[in-house]
Amino acid sequence: MTMIEKNVQYYAEKGKQLVERVEKKRENMRKKKFDTIAVHGLYSLEDALENNGSIIEPIYMSSAQQYENSNHLEAAQEQQIPSWIYTRITNPTLTYVEEIIAMLEGYKLSEKTSAVLTSSGMAAVFMATNPFLANCEGANIVVDARCYGGTFTIFNERYKGERGLEIRWVKDSLDLNEWEEKMDENTRFVYAETPANPSLNLTDVKALSEIAHKKGIAVIVDSTLATPALFRPLEHGADIVVHSVSKAMAASGSVIAGAIISKNDIVSNFLSEEIKKDFVTYVKFNPMRDHGTALSPISAFFVLNDLRSLRSRVDLMSDNAMKVAEFLNSLDQVECVSYPGLESHPGHSVAKSLMKLADNEDENGEEINRYGYLLSFNVKGGHQAARDLLDQFKIIWTATDLGRVKSVATIPTISTHRQQGDEGRKLASLPSNLIRLSIGIEDVEDIIEDLNQAFKAIQTKSQVQHQ
Ligand SMILES: Cc1ncc(COP(=O)(O)O)c(C=O)c1O
Repeated sequence: MTMIEKNVQYYAEKGKQLVERVEKKRENMRKKKFDTIAVHGLYSLEDALENNGSIIEPIYMSSAQQYENSNHLEAAQEQQIPSWIYTRITNPTLTYVEEIIAMLEGYKLSEKTSAVLTSSGMAAVFMATNPFLANCEGANIVVDARCYGGTFTIFNERYKGERGLEIRWVKDSLDLNEWEEKMDENTRFVYAETPANPSLNLTDVKALSEIAHKKGIAVIVDSTLATPALFRPLEHGADIVVHSVSKAMAASGSVIAGAIISKNDIVSNFLSEEIKKDFVTYVKFNPMRDHGTALSPISAFFVLNDLRSLRSRVDLMSDNAMKVAEFLNSLDQVECVSYPGLESHPGHSVAKSLMKLADNEDENGEEINRYGYLLSFNVKGGHQAARDLLDQFKIIWTATDLGRVKSVATIPTISTHRQQGDEGRKLASLPSNLIRLSIGIEDVEDIIEDLNQAFKAIQTKSQVQHQ
Protein backbone atom coordinates (compact mmCIF):
# COMPACT_ATOMS: atom_id res chain seq x y z
CA MET A 1 0.00 0.00 0.00
CA THR A 2 1.35 3.42 -0.92
CA MET A 3 1.56 6.24 1.60
CA ILE A 4 -1.28 8.06 -0.24
CA GLU A 5 -3.62 5.05 0.01
CA LYS A 6 -3.08 5.01 3.74
CA ASN A 7 -5.86 7.49 4.46
CA VAL A 8 -7.27 8.52 7.86
CA GLN A 9 -9.78 5.62 7.77
CA TYR A 10 -6.93 3.17 7.19
CA TYR A 11 -5.19 4.44 10.34
CA ALA A 12 -8.46 4.51 12.29
CA GLU A 13 -8.98 0.83 11.41
CA LYS A 14 -5.41 0.01 12.43
CA GLY A 15 -6.01 1.95 15.64
CA LYS A 16 -9.10 -0.14 16.41
CA GLN A 17 -7.15 -3.37 15.94
CA LEU A 18 -4.35 -2.09 18.15
CA VAL A 19 -6.79 -1.08 20.91
CA GLU A 20 -8.36 -4.57 20.76
CA ARG A 21 -4.92 -6.21 21.00
CA VAL A 22 -3.92 -4.10 23.99
CA GLU A 23 -7.31 -4.71 25.61
CA LYS A 24 -6.79 -8.47 25.27
CA LYS A 25 -3.30 -8.22 26.73
CA ARG A 26 -4.65 -6.15 29.62
CA GLU A 27 -7.44 -8.63 30.29
CA ASN A 28 -4.93 -11.48 30.41
CA MET A 29 -2.52 -9.63 32.67
CA ARG A 30 -5.33 -8.52 35.04
CA LYS A 31 -5.92 -12.19 35.82
CA LYS A 32 -2.35 -12.59 37.08
CA LYS A 33 -1.15 -12.08 40.65
CA PHE A 34 -0.16 -8.69 42.06
CA ASP A 35 3.61 -9.27 41.79
CA THR A 36 3.40 -10.56 38.21
CA ILE A 37 1.46 -7.46 37.16
CA ALA A 38 3.97 -5.23 38.94
CA VAL A 39 6.94 -6.91 37.26
CA HIS A 40 5.59 -7.31 33.69
CA GLY A 41 2.74 -4.86 33.15
CA LEU A 42 1.82 -4.91 29.47
CA TYR A 43 5.40 -5.15 28.17
CA SER A 44 5.39 -8.58 26.58
CA LEU A 45 7.96 -10.88 24.99
CA GLU A 46 6.61 -9.79 21.58
CA ASP A 47 7.04 -6.12 22.48
CA ALA A 48 10.64 -6.86 23.43
CA LEU A 49 11.32 -8.35 19.99
CA GLU A 50 10.07 -5.12 18.41
CA ASN A 51 12.50 -3.24 20.65
CA ASN A 52 15.77 -4.94 19.68
CA GLY A 53 15.00 -7.71 22.17
CA SER A 54 15.31 -5.45 25.20
CA ILE A 55 13.86 -7.35 28.17
CA ILE A 56 13.55 -4.08 30.08
CA GLU A 57 11.12 -1.45 28.84
CA PRO A 58 12.91 1.25 26.80
CA ILE A 59 13.12 4.87 27.94
CA TYR A 60 11.73 6.99 25.12
CA MET A 61 13.78 10.15 25.62
CA SER A 62 12.10 11.94 22.76
CA SER A 63 10.01 15.07 22.85
CA ALA A 64 7.69 13.90 20.08
CA GLN A 65 6.61 11.12 17.76
CA GLN A 66 7.29 10.85 14.00
CA TYR A 67 4.33 9.94 11.75
CA GLU A 68 4.22 8.07 8.47
CA ASN A 69 2.29 10.85 6.72
CA SER A 70 -0.24 13.62 7.32
CA ASN A 71 -3.13 11.11 7.50
CA HIS A 72 -1.35 9.23 10.27
CA LEU A 73 -0.72 12.56 12.02
CA GLU A 74 -4.37 13.57 11.73
CA ALA A 75 -5.66 10.18 12.93
CA ALA A 76 -3.34 10.45 15.94
CA GLN A 77 -4.44 13.99 16.82
CA GLU A 78 -8.07 12.89 16.63
CA GLN A 79 -7.25 9.98 18.96
CA GLN A 80 -8.41 7.48 16.36
CA ILE A 81 -5.18 5.55 16.74
CA PRO A 82 -3.32 4.96 20.03
CA SER A 83 -0.54 7.42 19.81
CA TRP A 84 1.67 9.45 22.12
CA ILE A 85 2.11 12.56 19.94
CA TYR A 86 4.18 14.78 22.28
CA THR A 87 5.77 14.08 25.66
CA ARG A 88 3.76 16.81 27.42
CA ILE A 89 0.67 14.75 26.55
CA THR A 90 2.05 11.25 27.04
CA ASN A 91 4.99 9.00 26.19
CA PRO A 92 5.40 5.20 25.80
CA THR A 93 7.63 4.91 28.89
CA LEU A 94 4.92 6.60 30.95
CA THR A 95 2.32 4.28 29.44
CA TYR A 96 4.19 1.19 30.72
CA VAL A 97 4.00 2.58 34.25
CA GLU A 98 0.44 3.89 33.99
CA GLU A 99 -0.81 0.49 32.85
CA ILE A 100 0.82 -1.16 35.87
CA ILE A 101 -0.49 1.38 38.38
CA ALA A 102 -4.01 1.15 36.90
CA MET A 103 -3.96 -2.65 37.16
CA LEU A 104 -2.54 -2.65 40.72
CA GLU A 105 -5.09 -0.10 42.02
CA GLY A 106 -7.79 -2.08 40.24
CA TYR A 107 -6.46 -5.46 41.37
CA LYS A 108 -9.28 -8.02 41.50
CA LEU A 109 -11.80 -5.33 40.56
CA SER A 110 -14.15 -6.24 37.72
CA GLU A 111 -14.41 -2.65 36.50
CA LYS A 112 -11.81 -1.07 34.22
CA THR A 113 -9.37 1.38 35.80
CA SER A 114 -7.15 4.02 34.21
CA ALA A 115 -4.11 5.84 35.53
CA VAL A 116 -2.11 8.88 34.59
CA LEU A 117 1.29 9.88 35.94
CA THR A 118 1.94 13.47 36.96
CA SER A 119 5.07 15.48 37.66
CA SER A 120 4.57 15.21 41.45
CA GLY A 121 2.08 14.09 44.06
CA MET A 122 0.94 17.72 44.40
CA ALA A 123 0.32 17.86 40.65
CA ALA A 124 -1.84 14.75 41.08
CA VAL A 125 -3.80 16.39 43.92
CA PHE A 126 -4.29 19.48 41.78
CA MET A 127 -5.23 17.68 38.56
CA ALA A 128 -7.62 15.30 40.36
CA THR A 129 -9.50 18.09 42.12
CA ASN A 130 -9.37 21.09 39.77
CA PRO A 131 -11.83 19.66 37.19
CA PHE A 132 -14.50 19.77 39.93
CA LEU A 133 -14.02 23.45 40.59
CA ALA A 134 -15.24 25.22 37.46
CA ASN A 135 -17.57 28.14 38.37
CA CYS A 136 -17.10 27.40 42.05
CA GLU A 137 -19.00 30.35 43.54
CA GLY A 138 -21.14 29.01 46.40
CA ALA A 139 -19.49 25.60 46.14
CA ASN A 140 -17.72 23.71 48.92
CA ILE A 141 -15.48 20.67 49.37
CA VAL A 142 -15.32 18.42 52.43
CA VAL A 143 -11.75 17.54 53.39
CA ASP A 144 -9.90 15.55 56.04
CA ALA A 145 -8.21 18.30 58.11
CA ARG A 146 -5.29 15.99 58.91
CA CYS A 147 -4.16 15.67 55.33
CA TYR A 148 -0.58 16.24 54.19
CA GLY A 149 0.56 19.88 54.68
CA GLY A 150 0.93 20.58 50.95
CA THR A 151 -2.61 19.34 50.33
CA PHE A 152 -3.90 21.47 53.20
CA THR A 153 -2.19 24.48 51.64
CA ILE A 154 -3.44 23.97 48.08
CA PHE A 155 -7.01 23.76 49.40
CA ASN A 156 -6.67 26.54 51.96
CA GLU A 157 -4.55 29.05 50.07
CA ARG A 158 -5.09 28.32 46.39
CA TYR A 159 -8.72 27.20 46.40
CA LYS A 160 -10.12 29.09 49.39
CA GLY A 161 -7.76 32.08 49.46
CA GLU A 162 -7.56 32.71 45.71
CA ARG A 163 -10.89 31.40 44.42
CA GLY A 164 -13.21 31.78 47.40
CA LEU A 165 -14.07 28.07 47.57
CA GLU A 166 -15.48 27.01 50.94
CA ILE A 167 -13.43 24.28 52.60
CA ARG A 168 -15.28 22.25 55.20
CA TRP A 169 -12.60 20.60 57.29
CA VAL A 170 -13.36 17.27 58.91
CA LYS A 171 -11.56 17.18 62.26
CA ASP A 172 -12.18 13.54 63.11
CA SER A 173 -12.01 11.43 59.95
CA LEU A 174 -13.28 8.36 61.84
CA ASP A 175 -16.53 10.18 62.60
CA LEU A 176 -18.81 9.44 59.64
CA ASN A 177 -21.48 11.78 61.03
CA GLU A 178 -19.06 14.66 60.81
CA TRP A 179 -18.38 13.85 57.14
CA GLU A 180 -22.10 13.53 56.40
CA GLU A 181 -23.15 16.70 58.21
CA LYS A 182 -20.67 18.71 56.18
CA MET A 183 -21.90 17.50 52.77
CA ASP A 184 -24.69 19.27 50.89
CA GLU A 185 -25.91 19.82 47.33
CA ASN A 186 -23.04 22.28 46.69
CA THR A 187 -20.31 19.82 47.70
CA ARG A 188 -18.14 19.13 44.68
CA PHE A 189 -16.18 16.25 46.24
CA VAL A 190 -15.08 14.75 49.54
CA TYR A 191 -11.38 14.23 50.08
CA ALA A 192 -9.86 11.69 52.47
CA GLU A 193 -6.24 10.80 53.08
CA THR A 194 -5.94 7.39 54.67
CA PRO A 195 -3.77 6.68 56.53
CA ALA A 196 -3.04 10.38 56.88
CA ASN A 197 0.42 11.92 57.00
CA PRO A 198 1.59 12.27 59.78
CA SER A 199 -1.30 11.58 62.19
CA LEU A 200 -1.91 8.09 60.68
CA ASN A 201 -5.63 8.77 61.08
CA LEU A 202 -7.91 6.42 59.19
CA THR A 203 -11.09 6.89 57.20
CA ASP A 204 -13.57 4.14 56.54
CA VAL A 205 -13.58 4.69 52.77
CA LYS A 206 -16.29 2.12 52.20
CA ALA A 207 -18.77 3.77 54.56
CA LEU A 208 -17.78 7.26 53.41
CA SER A 209 -18.33 6.31 49.75
CA GLU A 210 -21.79 4.95 50.51
CA ILE A 211 -22.76 8.20 52.24
CA ALA A 212 -21.29 10.47 49.57
CA HIS A 213 -22.68 8.49 46.65
CA LYS A 214 -26.23 8.68 48.02
CA LYS A 215 -25.82 12.45 47.65
CA GLY A 216 -24.17 12.20 44.21
CA ILE A 217 -20.80 13.36 45.52
CA ALA A 218 -17.47 12.05 44.24
CA VAL A 219 -14.97 10.52 46.68
CA ILE A 220 -11.28 11.25 46.19
CA VAL A 221 -8.75 9.36 48.33
CA ASP A 222 -5.05 10.03 48.79
CA SER A 223 -3.74 6.51 49.29
CA THR A 224 -0.03 7.34 49.24
CA LEU A 225 0.80 5.75 52.58
CA ALA A 226 -1.03 2.50 51.97
CA THR A 227 -0.03 1.89 48.32
CA PRO A 228 -2.09 -0.64 46.34
CA ALA A 229 -0.08 -3.39 48.02
CA LEU A 230 -2.06 -2.78 51.23
CA PHE A 231 -5.26 -0.96 50.35
CA ARG A 232 -7.12 -0.19 47.14
CA PRO A 233 -9.76 2.52 47.68
CA LEU A 234 -11.53 1.91 44.33
CA GLU A 235 -12.46 -1.57 45.53
CA HIS A 236 -14.16 0.05 48.53
CA GLY A 237 -16.19 2.53 46.55
CA ALA A 238 -13.89 5.53 46.01
CA ASP A 239 -14.08 7.20 42.60
CA ILE A 240 -10.59 8.63 42.27
CA VAL A 241 -7.29 7.78 43.94
CA VAL A 242 -4.26 10.05 44.11
CA HIS A 243 -0.72 9.08 44.97
CA SER A 244 2.50 10.77 45.73
CA VAL A 245 4.40 8.16 43.71
CA SER A 246 7.55 9.82 45.05
CA LYS A 247 7.05 7.74 48.22
CA ALA A 248 6.95 3.92 48.61
CA MET A 249 6.11 3.33 44.95
CA ALA A 250 9.48 4.89 44.09
CA ALA A 251 11.18 3.92 47.34
CA SER A 252 14.76 4.32 46.13
CA GLY A 253 14.24 8.07 46.38
CA SER A 254 15.51 9.11 42.95
CA VAL A 255 12.45 10.94 41.66
CA ILE A 256 9.35 13.01 42.42
CA ALA A 257 6.18 11.75 40.74
CA GLY A 258 2.43 11.44 41.20
CA ALA A 259 -0.49 9.47 39.84
CA ILE A 260 -4.27 9.69 39.50
CA ILE A 261 -6.32 6.53 39.10
CA SER A 262 -10.04 6.31 38.44
CA LYS A 263 -12.58 3.75 37.45
CA ASN A 264 -15.12 4.26 34.68
CA ASP A 265 -18.44 5.98 35.33
CA ILE A 266 -17.57 7.77 38.53
CA VAL A 267 -20.25 9.40 40.67
CA SER A 268 -20.65 13.17 40.48
CA ASN A 269 -23.61 15.51 40.37
CA PHE A 270 -21.33 18.10 38.91
CA LEU A 271 -19.14 16.62 36.14
CA SER A 272 -20.44 15.98 32.62
CA GLU A 273 -21.31 12.45 31.52
CA GLU A 274 -18.31 12.47 29.19
CA ILE A 275 -15.86 13.31 31.98
CA LYS A 276 -17.42 10.81 34.39
CA LYS A 277 -17.10 8.01 31.84
CA ASP A 278 -13.30 7.99 32.01
CA PHE A 279 -12.10 10.74 34.34
CA VAL A 280 -8.40 9.96 34.04
CA THR A 281 -8.39 9.88 30.25
CA TYR A 282 -10.22 13.21 30.25
CA VAL A 283 -7.64 14.69 32.64
CA LYS A 284 -4.73 13.30 30.66
CA PHE A 285 -5.79 14.59 27.25
CA ASN A 286 -7.38 17.88 28.31
CA PRO A 287 -6.45 19.70 31.57
CA MET A 288 -3.03 18.03 31.87
CA ARG A 289 -2.20 18.85 28.26
CA ASP A 290 -3.04 22.49 29.01
CA HIS A 291 -1.46 22.74 32.47
CA GLY A 292 1.68 20.84 31.43
CA THR A 293 2.01 18.62 34.50
CA ALA A 294 3.51 15.61 32.68
CA LEU A 295 6.23 13.44 34.20
CA SER A 296 9.57 13.05 32.42
CA PRO A 297 10.18 9.60 30.79
CA ILE A 298 13.41 9.14 32.74
CA SER A 299 11.55 9.67 36.02
CA ALA A 300 8.87 7.23 34.86
CA PHE A 301 11.57 4.64 34.25
CA PHE A 302 12.87 4.96 37.82
CA VAL A 303 9.31 4.50 39.08
CA LEU A 304 8.88 1.44 36.86
CA ASN A 305 11.92 -0.26 38.36
CA ASP A 306 10.84 0.38 41.96
CA LEU A 307 7.22 -0.61 41.34
CA ARG A 308 8.21 -4.16 40.41
CA SER A 309 9.06 -5.01 44.02
CA LEU A 310 6.36 -2.88 45.69
CA ARG A 311 4.49 -5.64 47.51
CA SER A 312 7.45 -7.42 49.08
CA ARG A 313 9.09 -4.11 49.99
CA VAL A 314 5.98 -2.70 51.66
CA ASP A 315 5.60 -6.02 53.48
CA LEU A 316 9.10 -5.76 54.93
CA MET A 317 8.80 -2.03 55.70
CA SER A 318 5.48 -2.66 57.48
CA ASP A 319 6.86 -5.58 59.43
CA ASN A 320 9.78 -3.42 60.59
CA ALA A 321 7.44 -0.51 61.39
CA MET A 322 5.26 -2.71 63.61
CA LYS A 323 8.31 -3.77 65.63
CA VAL A 324 9.53 -0.18 65.93
CA ALA A 325 6.04 0.98 67.01
CA GLU A 326 5.96 -1.70 69.73
CA PHE A 327 9.42 -0.69 70.89
CA LEU A 328 8.51 3.02 71.07
CA ASN A 329 5.28 2.15 72.85
CA SER A 330 7.28 0.50 75.63
CA LEU A 331 9.35 3.62 76.40
CA ASP A 332 8.64 5.98 79.30
CA GLN A 333 10.07 8.89 77.33
CA VAL A 334 7.31 8.57 74.71
CA GLU A 335 3.91 10.15 75.39
CA CYS A 336 2.11 8.17 72.71
CA VAL A 337 2.72 6.30 69.47
CA SER A 338 0.42 6.56 66.50
CA TYR A 339 0.55 3.48 64.30
CA PRO A 340 -2.56 1.80 62.83
CA GLY A 341 -1.16 -1.62 63.73
CA LEU A 342 -1.28 -0.91 67.47
CA GLU A 343 -4.53 -1.88 69.16
CA SER A 344 -4.43 1.43 71.05
CA HIS A 345 -4.71 3.37 67.75
CA PRO A 346 -8.22 4.87 67.38
CA GLY A 347 -8.38 3.71 63.77
CA HIS A 348 -7.07 0.20 64.43
CA SER A 349 -10.31 -1.62 63.68
CA VAL A 350 -10.83 0.31 60.42
CA ALA A 351 -7.21 -0.39 59.47
CA LYS A 352 -7.68 -4.05 60.35
CA SER A 353 -10.68 -4.33 58.06
CA LEU A 354 -9.09 -2.42 55.15
CA MET A 355 -5.29 -2.76 55.17
CA LYS A 356 -4.36 -6.22 53.95
CA LEU A 357 -1.26 -7.28 52.11
CA ALA A 358 -2.20 -8.36 48.59
CA ASP A 359 -1.99 -12.11 47.91
CA ASN A 360 -1.07 -13.06 51.45
CA GLU A 361 -2.92 -15.47 53.65
CA ASP A 362 -1.95 -17.25 56.84
CA GLU A 363 -2.17 -21.03 57.33
CA ASN A 364 -5.92 -20.71 58.06
CA GLY A 365 -6.57 -18.90 54.81
CA GLU A 366 -7.06 -15.56 56.62
CA GLU A 367 -5.77 -12.44 54.90
CA ILE A 368 -2.72 -10.92 56.58
CA ASN A 369 -2.89 -7.35 57.81
CA ARG A 370 -0.01 -4.99 57.24
CA TYR A 371 -0.22 -1.41 58.49
CA GLY A 372 2.36 0.45 56.46
CA TYR A 373 5.75 1.94 57.05
CA LEU A 374 4.87 5.29 58.64
CA LEU A 375 4.38 6.02 62.31
CA SER A 376 4.54 9.04 64.53
CA PHE A 377 5.23 9.49 68.22
CA ASN A 378 5.13 12.33 70.72
CA VAL A 379 8.25 12.83 72.79
CA LYS A 380 7.86 13.69 76.49
CA GLY A 381 9.41 17.06 77.26
CA GLY A 382 7.87 19.04 74.40
CA HIS A 383 9.21 20.44 71.18
CA GLN A 384 12.83 20.86 72.33
CA ALA A 385 12.97 17.23 73.48
CA ALA A 386 11.76 16.15 70.03
CA ARG A 387 14.46 18.26 68.38
CA ASP A 388 17.12 16.88 70.75
CA LEU A 389 16.08 13.34 69.92
CA LEU A 390 16.14 13.95 66.17
CA ASP A 391 19.62 15.42 66.47
CA GLN A 392 20.89 12.20 68.04
CA PHE A 393 19.99 9.82 65.21
CA LYS A 394 22.99 8.13 63.61
CA ILE A 395 21.33 5.83 61.08
CA ILE A 396 17.88 7.35 60.71
CA TRP A 397 18.00 10.26 58.28
CA THR A 398 16.60 13.70 59.08
CA ALA A 399 14.68 14.80 56.02
CA THR A 400 11.25 15.87 54.82
CA ASP A 401 10.74 12.55 53.12
CA LEU A 402 9.05 9.20 53.64
CA GLY A 403 8.41 5.85 52.01
CA ARG A 404 12.10 5.25 51.43
CA VAL A 405 14.12 2.07 51.69
CA LYS A 406 16.05 4.14 54.23
CA SER A 407 14.46 5.13 57.55
CA VAL A 408 13.78 8.86 57.67
CA ALA A 409 12.45 11.13 60.43
CA THR A 410 11.23 14.69 60.70
CA ILE A 411 9.29 17.04 62.97
CA PRO A 412 6.26 18.02 60.84
CA THR A 413 5.49 21.31 62.64
CA ILE A 414 8.86 22.73 61.52
CA SER A 415 8.96 21.04 58.11
CA THR A 416 6.22 19.31 56.11
CA HIS A 417 3.36 21.08 57.92
CA ARG A 418 5.12 24.37 58.65
CA GLN A 419 3.50 26.26 55.77
CA GLN A 420 -0.06 25.72 57.02
CA GLY A 421 0.53 27.97 60.04
CA ASP A 422 -0.49 27.68 63.71
CA GLU A 423 -4.21 27.86 62.93
CA GLY A 424 -3.97 25.06 60.35
CA ARG A 425 -1.87 22.89 62.63
CA LYS A 426 -4.40 23.38 65.44
CA LEU A 427 -7.17 22.31 63.07
CA ALA A 428 -5.13 19.25 62.19
CA SER A 429 -4.32 18.55 65.88
CA LEU A 430 -0.62 18.47 65.14
CA PRO A 431 1.58 18.90 68.24
CA SER A 432 5.12 20.28 68.05
CA ASN A 433 6.63 17.33 69.95
CA LEU A 434 5.50 14.86 67.28
CA ILE A 435 8.19 13.04 65.32
CA ARG A 436 7.21 11.38 62.06
CA LEU A 437 9.21 8.26 61.39
CA SER A 438 9.22 6.40 58.09
CA ILE A 439 10.67 2.93 58.42
CA GLY A 440 12.86 1.46 55.70
CA ILE A 441 14.23 -1.96 54.92
CA GLU A 442 17.35 -1.81 57.06
CA ASP A 443 17.66 -4.58 59.66
CA VAL A 444 15.05 -3.62 62.24
CA GLU A 445 17.44 -4.33 65.14
CA ASP A 446 19.69 -1.55 63.88
CA ILE A 447 16.80 0.91 63.58
CA ILE A 448 15.68 0.13 67.13
CA GLU A 449 19.25 0.40 68.38
CA ASP A 450 19.54 3.85 66.80
CA LEU A 451 16.35 4.98 68.51
CA ASN A 452 17.50 3.46 71.79
CA GLN A 453 20.85 5.24 71.78
CA ALA A 454 19.13 8.54 70.87
CA PHE A 455 16.66 8.26 73.79
CA LYS A 456 19.53 7.34 76.15
CA ALA A 457 21.54 10.35 74.98
CA ILE A 458 18.72 12.83 75.62
CA GLN A 459 18.03 11.25 78.99
CA THR A 460 21.68 11.70 79.96
CA LYS A 461 21.56 15.31 78.72
CA SER A 462 18.45 16.04 80.77
CA GLN A 463 19.93 14.40 83.90
CA VAL A 464 23.09 16.53 83.56
CA GLN A 465 20.97 19.69 83.16
CA HIS A 466 19.02 18.87 86.31
CA GLN A 467 22.10 18.24 88.46
C1 LIG B 1 0.09 11.86 51.60
C2 LIG B 1 0.80 12.76 50.63
N1 LIG B 1 0.13 13.21 49.56
C3 LIG B 1 0.72 14.03 48.65
C4 LIG B 1 2.02 14.44 48.81
C5 LIG B 1 2.67 15.34 47.79
O1 LIG B 1 3.53 14.56 47.00
P1 LIG B 1 4.84 15.11 46.24
O2 LIG B 1 5.83 15.47 47.29
O3 LIG B 1 5.23 13.96 45.39
O4 LIG B 1 4.41 16.30 45.45
C6 LIG B 1 2.76 13.98 49.91
C7 LIG B 1 4.17 14.40 50.11
O5 LIG B 1 4.74 14.20 51.16
C8 LIG B 1 2.12 13.12 50.85
O6 LIG B 1 2.76 12.64 51.92
